[in-house]
This record gives sequence, structure tokens and C-alpha cells, in this order.
Amino acid sequence: MNGIIFCLVALSGAAFAQKPPTNATRFFDARVAPILSKRCLGCHNEELKDGNISFLDRDSLLKGGSRGPALVPGKAEESALIRAVRQDGDLKMPPGPKLSPRQIATLTEWINRGAPWGTKLRPKR
Ligand code: HEC
Repeated sequence: MNGIIFCLVALSGAAFAQKPPTNATRFFDARVAPILSKRCLGCHNEELKDGNISFLDRDSLLKGGSRGPALVPGKAEESALIRAVRQDGDLKMPPGPKLSPRQIATLTEWINRGAPWGTKLRPKR
């Protein structure tokens, strides 16, 4: 019994130690994806692509729409997405209630970390 528990602990320890990049994936899946899917995906998906961007596709965000890149990895201040959710320019996103300061901080941190993608938001192909 003790042996089994030891093995499980050792295995999970190895899984954490081995792959630092998955921390970034986890950050996206746990903190960023829920905000995007709840507040943005309804209009920015593969069918609608409002503003010419889909939140199911990182490349589409990098390319952006008429306002330039929605996402500039490492540079939240240059990302149209952040300007939009702060609502201090002409484009105010999402339509309806503004994101909470905490959600805006999460999106800012995500982009400044290089905007790593995760497993949660994927185009259905
Ligand atoms: C109810 C629909 C709707 C929702 C929800 C929505 N958007 Fe938009 N979004 C639009 C429309 C429509 C446009 C195009 C507006 C325009 O060009 O004036 C747009 C444009 C944008 C653009 C600019 C693209 C460009 O370069 O022109 C960004 C960035 C953006 N949205 C980010 C977001 C983010 C981030 C969220 C979630 C927090 C969000 N949107 C939620 C409808 C929506």
C-alpha cells in the first residue's frame, strides 16, 4: 500500500517537474479560456468572426482585424484586445457589462507572458 502511494506521489511529482511549459497551458485553460469563452466567443468564432477575429484561433488574433493585431504576445499595451476590454478607446468590448478589473488583469498578464495557448479553445475541424 505504501509502495503504491509512494509511486503515485513520485509520478505526479515527475509530471510537474518535467514540463514547465504546461504551466502556461494550464494558465490559459484555467484562467483565460473561461473569460474568452464566456464573454467573447459568442461573436468571435469561426462562423461569426465579428471584427474579423475568432477566439478559437490564435493566428486570427495575431493577424487581427481593421484595428491591427488583437494580440501582440508580450505587449499587452499594443494589443487591441486589451485596449478594447479597458474600454478607454473607441472600441469597447465586450458589448454589455465591462469585464471585472481582475479579468482585465488576467488577460493583461496572459498577453505579457507571451499569450501561450492551451487546449480549451480549438476550432472544430
Ligand atoms: C455581442 C457580440 C460581441 C462580443 C460578445 C464581443 N465582441 Fe468583439 N467585436 C464585435 C463586433 C461587432 C466587432 C466589430 C466592431 C467594429 O469594427 O466596429 C468586434 C471587434 C472586436 C475587436 C477589433 C477587431 C478589429 O481589429 O477591428 C476586438 C479586439 C474585439 N472585438 C475583442 C473582443 C473581446 C476581447 C471580447 C470579449 C471580452 C469581445 N470582443 C466580445 C462583437 C462582439
